[in-house]
Amino acid sequence: MSASTAQSPSEFSNPNLEPLLTGEQIQTRIAEMGAEIARDCAGRNPLLIGVLKGAFVFLSDLVRAIDARVSTEFIAISSYGGGTRSSGEVRIVKDLDVPIEGREIIVVEDIVDTGLTLSYLLANLESRGATSVKLAALLNKQERRLREVKIDYLGFDIPDAFVVGYGLDFAERYRNLPYIAVLKDPSQD
Ligand code: IMP
Repeated sequence: MSASTAQSPSEFSNPNLEPLLTGEQIQTRIAEMGAEIARDCAGRNPLLIGVLKGAFVFLSDLVRAIDARVSTEFIAISSYGGGTRSSGEVRIVKDLDVPIEGREIIVVEDIVDTGLTLSYLLANLESRGATSVKLAALLNKQERRLREVKIDYLGFDIPDAFVVGYGLDFAERYRNLPYIAVLKDPSQD
């Protein structure tokens, strides 16, 4: 256990966290995104695909903000594996339970960073015969982009910093924060 953890019984006010987006800001933006998706998808029954694990909190709030008929699925992609930088290695760890041929898809992702994961995943889903594949992302780190990715529904542009909370983790920690924070010093964690 590190010194900062020992001094801080509260995980939500851990001194190694610098708040970036409040829970209220996130909810306000998600309500707007949900309304936009509901307008665009009226009568189309899109399939929302949440990318595990990071998108589980965002997806659960987003679906409840979409007042339209939608279905929900999950896919799990290998990610950082405990560090703070993308390895560039992409692997499907848990695949979809249903075929998606002829379906309108909205991929729901927590954050687009280098774009390596999403460019692979979007191409993969298109190759399975989906009618359309759109992307809803809560956060975007544009500065770090290596692959072009079109984000159809975006929550927030954020600076190039490693963020945690609201589903996003550092080595499986902090997914439960009800807000988004910059992790000041990963080595202190
Ligand atoms: P990309 O392939 O570099 O775009 O990385 C996408 C994935 O990396 C996301 O789905 C996250 O799981 C993870 N990731 C990227 N940036 C962060 C961050 O700041 N905090 C936590 N996870 C991140």
